[in-house]
Amino acid sequence: MGASRGPLRRALRGAHGAAGYTAGAMKSVVILISGRGSNMEQIVRCCAAECWPARIAAVVSNRADAAGLQFAAERGIATAVVEHRAFATREAFDDALGAAIDAHQPDLVVLAGFMRILGERFVRRYEGRLLNIHPSLLPLFPGLHTHQRALDAGCKLAGATVHFVTPQLDHGPIVMQSVVPVLPDDDAETLAARVLATEHRIYPRAVRWFVGGALRIEHGVVRQRDGAPQLWLPGQAG
Ligand code: GRF
Repeated sequence: MGASRGPLRRALRGAHGAAGYTAGAMKSVVILISGRGSNMEQIVRCCAAECWPARIAAVVSNRADAAGLQFAAERGIATAVVEHRAFATREAFDDALGAAIDAHQPDLVVLAGFMRILGERFVRRYEGRLLNIHPSLLPLFPGLHTHQRALDAGCKLAGATVHFVTPQLDHGPIVMQSVVPVLPDDDAETLAARVLATEHRIYPRAVRWFVGGALRIEHGVVRQRDGAPQLWLPGQAG
């Protein structure tokens, strides 16, 4: 990650102005999904309810059967499908995906349950304006099956992480985390549900901060302009 800090900070500065914190005009946001899309739904709902200086310009999926596409279409949000199976190489898929995204001139690209690994060229193209949510307390448990792995390790805490995307999978500067207890009777499903409920709290907040120009990166650490808590704890309101 160290090597990527410079370019990432520069990209973020480019998106937000020289001081790093400057809010600008309405931001265009493109959200990428692969399935259910519950995080995308929360972001769409909060954007409207809280009058963010942003517009959810499009929801793009690599699967035509992604349930979230219908939610977006019903709300008049542009949708697009770029089927990864239609491309011979990851690079060709990434390029087609990039073209579908760039049609909406995004200030921010949000990965919300997007289940394809993106190549370095793609990540560099959007560096500093590409967010992901991962259902673990990174840097623990990057990759798949996070909840089962937390249970197998005997963890007493679990959670989720919103982070800027860098070429290394499930790494990158952490914007916000949520923490939940692991209960004695948990299985992967019950733990996933408890974590998901917190994802719905932290991801909209992180996106709101980004579009409001409230995030900057100092030495690989993300700072929130107003000192708002970047940690969501059980029992916390809001
Ligand atoms: C979430 O748990 C997210 O952290 C992970 O994939 C899941 C997507 O859920 N990356 P949804 O599609 O947002 O409902």
